[in-house]
Amino acid sequence: MKTRTMLLSALAVALGTTASLPLQAAEPSPADMVDALNAVFGRHAGARGSHAKGFCARGTFTPAAGATGFAASRLLGATQVPAEVRFSIGGGNPKISDKSRSVRGIAVRLTGPDEGWDMVFISEPVFFAATPESFVSFLQARVADPATKKPDPARIKAHNEKYPEGTRQPGLLAAHAAPASYASTAYHSNHAFRFVGASGQAAWARLQFEPVAGVRYLSEDEEKSLPDAFLEDEFKRRIGGGSADFDLYAQPAGNGDALTDPSTAWSNGPAKVKLGRLSIDRHTGQDCNEQVYVPTRLPAGVEPSDDRLLRMRAAAYAVSSSRRNAP
Ligand code: HEM
Repeated sequence: MKTRTMLLSALAVALGTTASLPLQAAEPSPADMVDALNAVFGRHAGARGSHAKGFCARGTFTPAAGATGFAASRLLGATQVPAEVRFSIGGGNPKISDKSRSVRGIAVRLTGPDEGWDMVFISEPVFFAATPESFVSFLQARVADPATKKPDPARIKAHNEKYPEGTRQPGLLAAHAAPASYASTAYHSNHAFRFVGASGQAAWARLQFEPVAGVRYLSEDEEKSLPDAFLEDEFKRRIGGGSADFDLYAQPAGNGDALTDPSTAWSNGPAKVKLGRLSIDRHTGQDCNEQVYVPTRLPAGVEPSDDRLLRMRAAAYAVSSSRRNAP
């Protein structure tokens, strides 16, 4: 990004255009964004640039009666569709502790009769950045100082002064312990989508999976006694006797709720609309590891907003995927 900006500046000077053409820093490219992740977490063979630690599972999604009234998708009109799922921990460290106070992720691929839908959500209702620029700056501020091997608090402070949204997600994460189970965590789209129902009416909404088991975080005792890796075994044990279930809700926007900024929380607007139930009953290890889930792979009746981060994700995930097995 820096090189591109310098080249543009040099070109403008050479052309004598600086006075008439104010130069703006170019938007970070998808590769710049993955570079920013790699600079914090390093590159690990076979691993994703973010959400590097995770495992796969399978189950079904049963649309709620009348869900096509909210989004006129044939997938939501089906009786039941297969679901492929990946649970993960945010960040590019494949060995991160399951007790870390960082976001948990869920990627769900629904395969309908003739449409697909990828939902790639996290366990907090807000994202740590509002724009690609803020995303890169947030990460650059967290690159470890070579002397202390830790992020420099002064750089984080400077980031937060420039991009105040940078404190929101870390504040939420610090306020509770890590999730006790992938099955007792809610997951949020952060982004808004435009839903168009069977009779043509449109509504903006964010999506969320709510755990039927309820939300539960680790107790102080569990934080001390559990090993660093417990989430996968806990999940296997849990579904051994049944399934892990989540209800998918659309949360319609209230007055003033931001449609293109995933870093802001929404007000309690109109009542949530239940779109269906995800029921996961098989642990499948690493069988989805090569997949790339694309947050803008949407069925009919669900449209992306102009949120620049949402629009950027597909390309950034493609860059990350191409790097996973590159030397
Ligand atoms: C432009 C902003 C973002 C960038 C650049 C970014 C970057 C990445 C990258 C590089 C990966 C690894 C992709 C792969 O190798 O397949 C990833 C995975 C993931 N991201 Fe993002 N991310 C962004 C925004 C978000 C947001 C807003 C959310 C949640 C609301 C999110 C949730 C996830 C999850 C859950 C995964 C794991 C997907 C899987 O299991 O395959 N990301 N992200």
